[in-house]
Amino acid sequence: SNLTQDDLKKLAAYKAVEYVKSGMVVGLGTGSTAKHAVARISELLRQGKLRDIIGIPTSTTTHEQAVSLGIPLSDLDSHPVVDLSIDGADEVDPALNLVKGRGGSLLREKMVEGASKKFVVIVDESKLVKHIGGSGLAVPVEVVPFCCDFTRGKLEELFREAGCKAKLRVKSGGEAAAVTDNGNYVVDLYLERDMGDLEAASEKILRLPGVVEHGMFLGIATTLIVAGKSGVTVKDR
Ligand code: A5P
Repeated sequence: SNLTQDDLKKLAAYKAVEYVKSGMVVGLGTGSTAKHAVARISELLRQGKLRDIIGIPTSTTTHEQAVSLGIPLSDLDSHPVVDLSIDGADEVDPALNLVKGRGGSLLREKMVEGASKKFVVIVDESKLVKHIGGSGLAVPVEVVPFCCDFTRGKLEELFREAGCKAKLRVKSGGEAAAVTDNGNYVVDLYLERDMGDLEAASEKILRLPGVVEHGMFLGIATTLIVAGKSGVTVKDR
């Protein structure tokens, strides 16, 4: 077939939106895959096939998209329990552990998706890995701006044995630090080997003062939808 990567993202997103039922509080993910799900939800609302949806956006970007599409929105303060969230991921392992946040929205995503009864991850098949964080691509960590190079150095030291290089993320085309929706910075961890026990790695990162959150989502996803050249597959944890 002649499906592009974007077509695959859309197929996975449309499949996930089949899980959305009228009356649900729905976590709206961020990124090039999730945006198709947000658009599809608004389409079904317009057609009257869905009613009474309340969206909980996971970034200012998704907030703006949802507002422009007329999806009613709220937040976790008013709706601390989310029925279902739909979002993309940068990497997914066979146990449905994820790396997220290469787009920078990991903190709000983890808050909303962690508060969700069901979290459906939507990816094209290029995102599937054996071990998250071991592919040479970044594991993002959100840090406070205060002495971020100190925190960067501490993060690099934590994973020295895995050949870690920790880099402060900069705005594209510039030297200024990239700023998250929460006014924080991002340190990207590049590992030569996978970090072994993921729970232990997570604990170590979170214990560092200066760290706000990291982009490993362990045991949060409940369903994975993968779109590939040979079709769409659904897997539950
Ligand atoms: C946003 O910070 C990320 O967590 C995204 O959800 C993730 O990077 C997937 O994005 P794409 O669907 O654009 O690959």
